[in-house]
Amino acid sequence: MKRIHPYSNLVSDPVKIPKASGISQNVDEPLIKLTGVWKIYQMGEVEFVALKGINLEIYEGEFLVVLGPSGSGKSTLMNLLGCLDLPSKGTVFLNSRDISGLDESELALVRGQMIGFIFQSFNLIPTLSTQENVLLPLEFQEEGARIAQKKALYLLEIVGLSDKKQNLPSQLSGGQRQRVAIARSLAVNPPVILADEPTGNLDSKTGDYILDFLDNLNKKEGKTIIIVTHDLDIVKYATRVVHIRDGEIEKINILRKNEKEE
Ligand SMILES: Nc1ncnc2c1ncn2[C@@H]1O[C@H](COP(=O)(O)OP(=O)(O)OP(=O)(O)O)[C@@H](O)[C@H]1O
Ligand SMILES: [Mg+2]
Repeated sequence: MKRIHPYSNLVSDPVKIPKASGISQNVDEPLIKLTGVWKIYQMGEVEFVALKGINLEIYEGEFLVVLGPSGSGKSTLMNLLGCLDLPSKGTVFLNSRDISGLDESELALVRGQMIGFIFQSFNLIPTLSTQENVLLPLEFQEEGARIAQKKALYLLEIVGLSDKKQNLPSQLSGGQRQRVAIARSLAVNPPVILADEPTGNLDSKTGDYILDFLDNLNKKEGKTIIIVTHDLDIVKYATRVVHIRDGEIEKINILRKNEKEE
C-alpha cells in the first residue's frame, strides 16, 4: 500500500472537505448520551439480554475505545450509539435530543451529518465499484458530481487504494474492503466516526496506519472517534476506555485528556 502521511494531504488538497453543517452543539453537553439503556433481542419465545442498563456520556474530541470479548455486546452498543437501532429500555440522546422523539427521516438526516460508520462487516454494496462505494454517502449531500468524484478519489488515495478504484468489493482483499469502508466513512466529513473492529481484517502494519490516521483526525481536527474492539493494542490511542462484559460496563479508565493539538 502506498505510504503517504495520513494527514498532510488533508491540509493541502484543493478539494476541501467542508465541515458538517446544521449541527449546533453546546460543548459542555455530551454529543451522545445513554441513560439506563437495555437491549433485549427477541427470538420467537426466547429473549436474549444483550445490554443491561448502560449509562455512558461521550463528549466532543474524545477517542473512546469500547473494549470487550466476543459476544459482550459491542456491536449492539455501537448500533445504539450510532442511532441505527433503538433501545428496548432507556434513552439515547444525540446533541441533547432524545432520539425516540425524532421520526425516521429526521434521524437519518442527523445521523448522516454527524456520524461516519465503519462497520464490522464493511457493508459495501457488492455491485458498485470501490469509487462508487465511497461516493455513496455524498449522493445524499448537495454536491456537484465532479466535486464528489474528486473527493472519492482523494479519499481512496488517503487509504492507499487509488489503483483499485474500478474494482468491485469481491475483487478486493478483506483489508482493502476495510479501507474502502474507512474512506466511505470520511466522505461527508462527519464530526463523529464510529468504528466496529476497524483493524480486525488488517495486517498490523496497515492497521497501525489506519489507527494513526484516525488518531490524527482526533488530535488535529478534534473529531470524536469511537472504536469498539477486542484488540488491546488500540487502547494506546484512547482518551478513555470503556470495558464491557456480558452487556454491562465493567469499568471505565481515563487515559489522557482530549485536547486538540495546536
Ligand atoms: N439480532 C440478534 N438476535 C439475537 N441475539 C443477538 C442478535 N444480535 C446479537 N445478539 C446476541 O447479543 C450478544 C452481543 O452481540 P454483539 O454482536 O453485540 O457482540 P460483540 O461484542 O460485538 O461480539 P464480536 O466481538 O464477536 O463482534 C451475543 O450473545 C449475540 O449472540
Ligand atoms: Mg461485534
